[in-house]
Amino acid sequence: MAEPQLACQTRSVRRLEKILAAKGISLVPDDDSSPSADSGPGNPRWHHGARVEYALARWESATPPRFRDAQATLPEVRAWAERALDDPSRAGTLLLTGLTGTGKTHQAYGALRHIASGGPDRFEVLAVNSADMYGRLRPSAVMGASEQELKRLSTVQYLFLDDFGTSKTSEWTEEITYRLINHRYNHCLPTVITSNLPARDADGPDLTDFVGDRVASRLAEMVTTLVPMIGDDRRRSRATA
Ligand SMILES: Nc1ncnc2c1ncn2[C@@H]1O[C@H](COP(=O)(O)OP(=O)(O)OP(=O)(O)O)[C@@H](O)[C@H]1O
Ligand SMILES: [Mg+2]
Repeated sequence: MAEPQLACQTRSVRRLEKILAAKGISLVPDDDSSPSADSGPGNPRWHHGARVEYALARWESATPPRFRDAQATLPEVRAWAERALDDPSRAGTLLLTGLTGTGKTHQAYGALRHIASGGPDRFEVLAVNSADMYGRLRPSAVMGASEQELKRLSTVQYLFLDDFGTSKTSEWTEEITYRLINHRYNHCLPTVITSNLPARDADGPDLTDFVGDRVASRLAEMVTTLVPMIGDDRRRSRATA
């Protein structure tokens, strides 16, 4: 290429760079340390930030005010959340058991927050107290409303079932629990469960007594992380502190 032509093109490129720079756009790819590296669509860091923001907003709308500060402080809970972030279909179920006030619900919301903070590609979550769930699933006056609710809970990407095993059992609760858990089992959907009942106890009531054998068998395979929480009732310790 002739020299004058090249010089002219170089000047044009410089002019273009100046115009774009004034608008905050760089022709040179940003390196990661640049302060403007996450400054717009098209940049991977910008997309990650947008995903985090979106997922955390969803997490917040599923989380009651009492647990808005919840953090997954236990290493095994964080490890489960990391696995879910990596591949939700391989995460399985996180089961937190233990006496009242030991921090199960706190860790569960913390685990979900940890996933959201990682900027997942997709993040849908429903959190329900189990007693409320059975209340909502009772056949209602509105035709099909409870079936629709069961479908929502069965198919949502992440389901958090709080206080599982506290309701009175009946053939109806066993059937509903079976349909819910069986769907999530078949579709490898990650689930977080908290319960005051131990997973297994030869001498007293355990989760198997509550859910029945068919669900217990599925849970045995679904539960990838079992965390028996120990300690005092944090509510009482706080009240007396
Ligand atoms: N790691 C923690 N850091 C700070 N506060 C915590 C932590 N864990 C739990 N708490 C607080 O302690 C109280 C009891 O915790 P939480 O409700 O999670 O207990 P739980 O085991 O779910 O109890 P229950 O079986 O009665 O439902 C809550 O106020 C919660 O915010
Ligand atoms: Mg709880």
